[in-house]
Amino acid sequence: MTAVTQDTTHTDSIQRKWWKEAVVYQVYPMSFKDADGDGIGDLKGIISKLDYIKSLGVDVVWLNPVYQSPNRDNGYDISNYEAIMSRFGTMADFDSLLAGLHRRGLKLVMDLVVNHTSDQHPWFVQSRSSRSNPYRNFYHWWDAERGKPAHRYSFFDVNNEAWKYDSLTHAYYLHYFGDFQPDLNWENPQVRDSIFQMMRFWLDKGVDGFRMDVIPFISKDTTFPPLPPQYNGDFVKYYANGPHLHEYLRDMNRDVLSRYDCMSVAEGIGVTTATAHDFVDADRHELNMLYHFEGVSLGMVPGKFKEVQPGGVRLVDFKNLYSKWDSVFEQKGWGTVYLGNHDQPRMVTRWGNDDPQWRALSSKMLTTFLLTMRATPYYYAGDELGMTNIKFNRISDYRDVESLNMYDHLKKTGGNLQEFLRDQKITARDNGRTPFQWNNSRNAGFTTGTPWLRVNPNYLTINAETEGKDSTSCLNYFRKLIQIRKQRLVFVYGKYTELDKDNPSVYAYTRELDGKTILVLLNFTANTAEVNVGNDLAHASLLIDNYPHPSRTNLLQPYEAAVYEW
Ligand code: NOJ
Repeated sequence: MTAVTQDTTHTDSIQRKWWKEAVVYQVYPMSFKDADGDGIGDLKGIISKLDYIKSLGVDVVWLNPVYQSPNRDNGYDISNYEAIMSRFGTMADFDSLLAGLHRRGLKLVMDLVVNHTSDQHPWFVQSRSSRSNPYRNFYHWWDAERGKPAHRYSFFDVNNEAWKYDSLTHAYYLHYFGDFQPDLNWENPQVRDSIFQMMRFWLDKGVDGFRMDVIPFISKDTTFPPLPPQYNGDFVKYYANGPHLHEYLRDMNRDVLSRYDCMSVAEGIGVTTATAHDFVDADRHELNMLYHFEGVSLGMVPGKFKEVQPGGVRLVDFKNLYSKWDSVFEQKGWGTVYLGNHDQPRMVTRWGNDDPQWRALSSKMLTTFLLTMRATPYYYAGDELGMTNIKFNRISDYRDVESLNMYDHLKKTGGNLQEFLRDQKITARDNGRTPFQWNNSRNAGFTTGTPWLRVNPNYLTINAETEGKDSTSCLNYFRKLIQIRKQRLVFVYGKYTELDKDNPSVYAYTRELDGKTILVLLNFTANTAEVNVGNDLAHASLLIDNYPHPSRTNLLQPYEAAVYEW
């Protein structure tokens, strides 16, 4: 293995850490595998698929929330942080899952959802019950005698209104998400202590870290002034810049994270290149990584590349954005890269081409991008099969609180429902949440019952069993590329340089470390495309290519991905 400098005084970005070298595989428990036939995935289901996960070559599993919850936002509304949702199983099942992962040399990262709880959490039940209850200050209340509080935007509210009036105590409570997800009051030290204690509970069990849900939102100015003018209506940026945010993250690091060999990654909503370092630089003693939203926010509707769909995103803008984020962490901090997760449509539909002619090729091309950037890749279960958006026609097919609320909001305000349903086929979160396609038996082998969300009918051909037997499948391409990455630290720590920047069709870059060079060429279009990188490709060694007959020249076939080494 190439030697990497172990101790450099001035760069975080080359100091070796297991979480920098890892590939993270995200498992959405509701949709992964149902063992008991109730139509919802569960822990025993995941346990039954641990050998599959191991076979991928990934290192870390990030598990979306499995805590006790009324499950109105698929587990992001927690009613007991130290218990398992009964539909998912028991704490004993959780312990077996953790042991099974560790036995296979895999790590487990839990979702930490602490900006808000469920309204069924005992803290909120108490808090709501009277103005003098000891838990009153666990949440944000605004007594109605003071008049209506200044507007705050809510993501999952039919009226977009984050203050909900509660007649029981004649006061409003704050909920940035659904009205069933009241925001915790982090300014209260008892809240912070309770959360830190809960984190230690899981780390003492042996979990290997946390993915922190909307963590930039935790600190609030409790005077709740009208939105300060510099934010110009940008709620997300305002929410992500609370007055004591970094103080709380440093406390969390000091009291919890620094005491374990664990990894931490912020869902970096609202974080910009200007604020990113405050979260992740090693000398800040806060978190290890964050994942920003700029990439997935690029031209969300219709969310296709211009070359594929008029009015879509320009590849040059996509390239500039990822190059910019690489340079942010060139000296300090560490980045992440992802194209899909449970809040996003399927990556191949959004960023590739899910037309049957191009689906597998473009999916492998995107996988190549994710596994060759200088950042920790977060790879969403099902993307290794090239799973696609299901594209529901009717609102009644959707289960996601976000889509359902947006629909009701538009209905109430006279919006264009047809246009909304059309756009949801590309953007809706449920597209990324359809059951994992295991095989071509009923319900794709996901459940023997009725699946909670419809299975994509393309499971007959796109499934793990069929792809496992095909050496040219998306699945086996993913496995192969992970091995290539793992054998060469240049993929992790190597310097990134973009080439042929103005090329509208091809993304080209090198990675360099200790005299080794990797060249990555990615044609993001359905046409043949030329790239100008000034190398003699005919004599370079080709590590991987998504075509059976690689071009080996500067003329790339549609959606061709090629990785060279010298
Ligand atoms: C972000 C999570 O990823 C999403 O699924 C959830 O709905 C919101 N945060 C609220 O917790």
